[in-house]
Amino acid sequence: MLHAQNVSKSFTLHTQGSVTIPVFNDIEFSLSAGDCIALTGESGSGKSTFMRMLYANYTCSNGSINVRHDGGWLDITTASPHAILDMRKRTMGYVSQFLRVIPRVPTLEIVAEPLVALGTSRADATAKARGLLTRLRIPERLWQLSPLTFSGGEQQRVNIARGFIADYPVMLLDEPTASLDVDNRATVLALIEEAKSRGAAIAGIFHDHETRDAVCTGSFDVTSFKVGAND
Ligand SMILES: Nc1ncnc2c1ncn2[C@@H]1O[C@H](COP(=O)(O)OP(=O)(O)O)[C@@H](O)[C@H]1O
Ligand SMILES: [Mg+2]
Repeated sequence: MLHAQNVSKSFTLHTQGSVTIPVFNDIEFSLSAGDCIALTGESGSGKSTFMRMLYANYTCSNGSINVRHDGGWLDITTASPHAILDMRKRTMGYVSQFLRVIPRVPTLEIVAEPLVALGTSRADATAKARGLLTRLRIPERLWQLSPLTFSGGEQQRVNIARGFIADYPVMLLDEPTASLDVDNRATVLALIEEAKSRGAAIAGIFHDHETRDAVCTGSFDVTSFKVGAND
């Protein structure tokens, strides 16, 4: 479903004397349907950076990332902005570490929106959003409010509901259980299992190894591609 080849990344800090920060070199990475691969490596090793590159949020310094989209392969390192948006809408879901939303939009709408964008009727999308918010224990009295003032854990669960509402063929999860209690963590694990069994290809960053061991089919150590690691 996804294949990254010779992918390298370094950041150039233009506002700080053009200092260059090398992150990793020549990553080879593949995801197949039904996989749930954990990206591992110490803090600062580049896990989130690599995931943002898989979502075409960060550019690659080098290499290609091909994503199975619309019956063909789309190289997201050279695709047009329009093609990237279409790939995100129909093929790739991303649960980021932090919820970013437009102020004043109610939670229920934020969660339903990706399905509405795919052409599902608003009534059906809203019904599915209600189901997910219920499973993730967001009290109904909050559904018509913006999640901007919610607690960290509540915002994360809204983010998860939004990320799991559509049956994306590829899913990227950046620490989806980091600030959740035991019950909600179990719900997220169940959602991941359901996605795997419908054939989703998943890459995830998990902050604890219990979660990782519970759902992952393999792991990928970003550290081994660190610049200088093999010198
Ligand atoms: N937008 C950015 N600009 C400059 N440096 C960045 C940026 N994002 C991440 N980095 C740097 O890249 C390295 C990897 O960060 P990150 O991917 O967040 O690590 P991890 O998720 O593994 O903890 C760090 O040294 C970080 O400071
Ligand atoms: Mg990170």
